[in-house]
Amino acid sequence: MSDRRTFAIISHPDAGKTTLTEKLLLTGGAIHLAGEVKARGQARRARSDWMKIEQQRGISVTSSVMTFEREGITFNLLDTPGHEDFSEDTYRTLTAVDSAIMVIDAAKGIEPQTRKLFEVCRLRSVPIITFVNKVDREGRPVFELLDEIADMLALDVSPQAYPVGMGGEFEGVLDFATGCVARPEGPSKEFTGTRDCDPAIPERFAEEIELAQIGYPEFDLEAYRNGDLTPVYFGSALKNFGVTELIEAIAKYAPPPRPQPAGDEQIAPDHNEVTGFIFKVQANMDPNHRDRIAFMRQVSGTFKRGMKLTPSGLGKPVAIHSPILFFAQDREVADTAEPGDIIGIPNHGTLRVGDTLSEKNAIRFTGLPNFAPEILRRVALVDPTKTKQLRKALDDLSEEGVIQVFYPEIGGQWIIGVVGQLQLDVLISRLSAEYKVEARLEASPFATARWIKGDEKAMNEFEKFNLSNLAKDRDGDLVFMAKSPWDVNYQQEKNPDLTFSATKER
Ligand code: G4P
Repeated sequence: MSDRRTFAIISHPDAGKTTLTEKLLLTGGAIHLAGEVKARGQARRARSDWMKIEQQRGISVTSSVMTFEREGITFNLLDTPGHEDFSEDTYRTLTAVDSAIMVIDAAKGIEPQTRKLFEVCRLRSVPIITFVNKVDREGRPVFELLDEIADMLALDVSPQAYPVGMGGEFEGVLDFATGCVARPEGPSKEFTGTRDCDPAIPERFAEEIELAQIGYPEFDLEAYRNGDLTPVYFGSALKNFGVTELIEAIAKYAPPPRPQPAGDEQIAPDHNEVTGFIFKVQANMDPNHRDRIAFMRQVSGTFKRGMKLTPSGLGKPVAIHSPILFFAQDREVADTAEPGDIIGIPNHGTLRVGDTLSEKNAIRFTGLPNFAPEILRRVALVDPTKTKQLRKALDDLSEEGVIQVFYPEIGGQWIIGVVGQLQLDVLISRLSAEYKVEARLEASPFATARWIKGDEKAMNEFEKFNLSNLAKDRDGDLVFMAKSPWDVNYQQEKNPDLTFSATKER
């Protein structure tokens, strides 16, 4: 069995994802002082202007990879952007993990963003471990929380721990497996390692605890791995409760690298060649160097530095000389990597999101779609001589998945599309900070877009009559720009030989 655990944390903003990430890294020995995740974030922000958005809104726009090792297991934690807008970037990150931790605020229960991200995990049968956070504060009753998770997500819940009181009454967290209570200590009431394994449980909690143990399904590894059951842990990321138990649960239960779909095939980790797919591209990580890093999720084989792999988008092999592994505090050049690992491949725009990399160039991984944009805007240059720079910037940013670009068949004004408003802010500030292009966004006559497909005759016919509503995306595929959702339905009915698709897979 593989010793890799590649996972992400999903949550609504403020539930405690950053705090928990930091504590997981601390417990995993990857960092040594609390505050480092944030501190590192601040150093990054100082370097790049557009990160100001992160600061202003208190959110994380970029996603990164953090690797740490503990007791023989290598954990690859992929950070998903936690803002309110659903973004393609988040979706794609979740295509690269084998499991997820769902963090819930004990006072709030399931919030909208948790739910959306959960749905994405379900689509891909990504198993979930639940962590109910902030039990050191006043929260909702435990049974109410458990039942809400079960009802709202249509999932069996299996509690593995129980908070002995919350807020002012908080006396620690009981771990069902060992029967020990992790106790708060000192003036800050943190967990510093003291476990009481012969605990006297106050009368008023005893009945509840018994009910939690017998009233819910027992943990079942298969049901969890199928995505039908979630083990539920209670704790406090801030005060260190439940963090070790969580890491141990991932080590013990979370699936090792899973096979990935490639059309009708499933490519397993023991497949006889190195394969992987690009789920994220990030340009200008360091504005002083126009570097661009493609993040590859390795699916099979043992990767060795210098190896030649063929990207599906390019057709000819490239030698991967300086692959990067991402440790919490450092980047390291990787000499070898295994299935489940994420390696960063520096490149000059040859690698794109959705590309498969392989030795024999015979496999194409599927399931990394683009989504039809819900907001469309025209980009207007403040300085019209900057057309070339604008095109380059839009190309880069669409490659990263920040935006999509559409080139209308008639007229020269490019249209950009995004799934959420935040992406527009990111666009404008990055254009200015990284490309020195000042631009404005203007209303576009279109409300949404659909990729169209059909036989040549039907396509030609449609093009003839709808030229002013057609554009090409950056791959040259034809897109119908619709004025309203009604418009899409109308055209679909009128042209039954064509398909109008809201997603596109490369
Ligand atoms: P996010 O990444 O999910 O958005 O959440 P983050 O970790 O930034 O946590 C949001 C707020 O919740 C922070 O407070 C954080 O300190 C607090 N928090 C996280 N885990 C716990 C917990 O277990 N118990 C309690 N009581 N609070 C917790 P903040 O005041 O917004 O930020 P800060 O100034 O403390 O950094």
